[in-house]
Parts: sequence; structure tokens; C-alpha cells
Amino acid sequence: MSETPHTESLQQTDRRHFLNWIWAFFGAIAAAEFGWVGLSFLKSRKERNQPISTASIITAGPVERFKPKTVTAIPNGGFYLARLEEGSFLPLSRTCTHLGCTVPWVEEKKQFVCPCHGSTFSLTGEVITSPAPRPLDTFPARIENGIVKVDIASPRKRERFDPTQATRPSS
Ligand code: FES
Repeated sequence: MSETPHTESLQQTDRRHFLNWIWAFFGAIAAAEFGWVGLSFLKSRKERNQPISTASIITAGPVERFKPKTVTAIPNGGFYLARLEEGSFLPLSRTCTHLGCTVPWVEEKKQFVCPCHGSTFSLTGEVITSPAPRPLDTFPARIENGIVKVDIASPRKRERFDPTQATRPSS
């Protein structure tokens, strides 16, 4: 049975409607994705501009817990808290400034000793033995009601130790 011109025209119209529907469908998906990407971008910009959250403030402990000339690991903050001879506090990053290995404090040597390439650092984080190019980074600390608090969101690079980097408990 052969198709009449009328039947052929109906089939062409159906095909055209189907193709239009497909284009509309994929166009809607593309528009939705574009909108989602745009919203994600705006949202992340908004998050970047927000002030530092209090989640970055780590409570290290009461001042009396730390004796002068000691280094204490603060595991929940991922840093060391050095208490210097005259009683001030210096939070130190545990990340080696050479290639980023985690540096342990070796109590017998009274030094940080990097297990990767042998750099050593003093209690104030200064380089004793290279290849580390600069001292361990520090973090800002403050003492509130006799409690040492450290802001781990803002590591500070430095070229040498300077007593102003440490925080003194008020007497
Ligand atoms: S990563 Fe510490 S000395 Fe190389």
C-alpha cells in the first residue's frame, strides 16, 4: 500500500515536532546547567568574602599547662605550641619549609628534625640545618582568661625569628 501525499506530509510534521521537542529538551538542560554553574560560582565568591570563622580558632589549653622551654604538640590543631624561655608562646607549623614533610619534635635533641632530608629547626622554628630555606611558619596566638588560643587559618611565613612573633601572657 503506497502512502498518499497527505500521509507523507503528516509524517514530516510529526518528525519536525519531535525534533523541535528534542531541541527544546536539551536546550532546557543546558540552561539549567548554566544557571547551576553560575550560582555555584557566586556562592563560592560569597563564601570566600566571609570573615574567618571561629572554627579556625583552636584552644591549646591554660597557660600553666605549658612550661618554659618546652614544645607541645596540639593534635586537634595540627601545630606545635612552643613556650619560650621568658614565658611567651609561639605556635609553629609542623610542615617542613623544604618540601612539606611533617616535622616531629625530638625531645632528646631539643630540635625539630625533618625525617625526609634532614633539616633541623630550633625551638623557635629557626633553621639549624638546611635544606629548609626558612623557619617553620607561625600562627597568631592570643591569651583569653588564661587560655592560649591559636588561629590556624592564618599561617605566617618569616625569614627569621623575632620576639614580636611570640605572644606574652599578661602579668
Ligand atoms: S622536606 Fe624537610 S628537609 Fe626536605
